[in-house]
Amino acid sequence: MVYLYRMITAVGKDIHAAASLLREGELVAIPTETVYGLAGNALNSDAVARIFEAKQRPRFNPLIIHGSSWDALQPYVKDVPALAHILAKRFMPGPLTLLLPKSALVPDLVTAGSDAVAVRVPQHPLCVTLLQALDFPLAAPSANPFGYVSPTTAEHVLQGLDGRIAYVLDGGASSVGIESTILGFEDHQTVVVHRLGGLSVEAIQAAVDSPVTFRKHPHLPLPAAPGQLASHYAPRKPLYVGDIRSLYAQFKEQRVGVLSFQEQYDDLDNVKCLALAADGKLTTAATGLFAALRAFDASDVDLILAERFPAEGLGAAINDRLRRAQQEFKGK
Ligand code: TXA
Ligand code: MG
Repeated sequence: MVYLYRMITAVGKDIHAAASLLREGELVAIPTETVYGLAGNALNSDAVARIFEAKQRPRFNPLIIHGSSWDALQPYVKDVPALAHILAKRFMPGPLTLLLPKSALVPDLVTAGSDAVAVRVPQHPLCVTLLQALDFPLAAPSANPFGYVSPTTAEHVLQGLDGRIAYVLDGGASSVGIESTILGFEDHQTVVVHRLGGLSVEAIQAAVDSPVTFRKHPHLPLPAAPGQLASHYAPRKPLYVGDIRSLYAQFKEQRVGVLSFQEQYDDLDNVKCLALAADGKLTTAATGLFAALRAFDASDVDLILAERFPAEGLGAAINDRLRRAQQEFKGK
């Protein structure tokens, strides 16, 4: 579909325009509280095929379906465990995605042939209003070219997808800043974390009496959460994670970018430091993480050194993203 790459991408806040385009089978980038999504009509296989094409994403990597409410998503799932209802009532709308058995209404292309579908209810007001105006749900991966850092502003979306989609609905900067937490269920009894994200594991555990476990093989592409491929969320510049001063000793001949939680590293020469959270909150650090990686890519630094973040709350998801962005994973 050659024309995809020649279209003019408009940017604005016009929900009616976005809804009309989506009804016509076009692609629209949508703001969510986690990251921007690259959306199309989830029930229209042609639109879904174009999402894969615009993002240059392999078709074995399935898409999340977004609905205006948990109730609105029920036609697309079946055999929903009681645990899923509890979590949905507690955390939807919000940065949570649930993996559930799919109904026949969901095209196979959306789930890459799997009988499970990932469903989510975003919290961003523009996005919710848009979803309420539509009589179909939206399939949407993050609105970045495959493998690159997810977008948290309309400008980021344009950097990667200008000319490939019809419209970017501009809802300002995403407040959470990292993708949703993806949960599945084992035997209706156990919650399985497939992807760490904007909802902390501690909050999930506090909401249920059942055990919360982690997926055993997070780097295997299938059957679950193939986006967990090792090299992902990666900036173009090489990135190393660890103790900043010892890493700096290895790289100090080069222009070094430092990504830190709070510390400024004023004592290190020739360093551009971005401290993510002056307030010491991991939620603040998550909000700014992807914009900081993009800022380093756009700057003249040769490489990025990142701290390891406190492994609690959203720190676990931040560390997960940084680990996958690391130089040693590139090409894997
Ligand atoms: O916050 C988010 O989740 C954002 C916003 C736009 O909603 N979306 C997002 O989508 O991060 P994406 O496609 O970049 O990541 C979704 C992940 C991928 O790792 C994909 O493999 C996994 O969810 N996934 C989607 N459907 C699945 C399914 N049926 N079975 C297993 N994994 C699935
Ligand atoms: Mg993604």
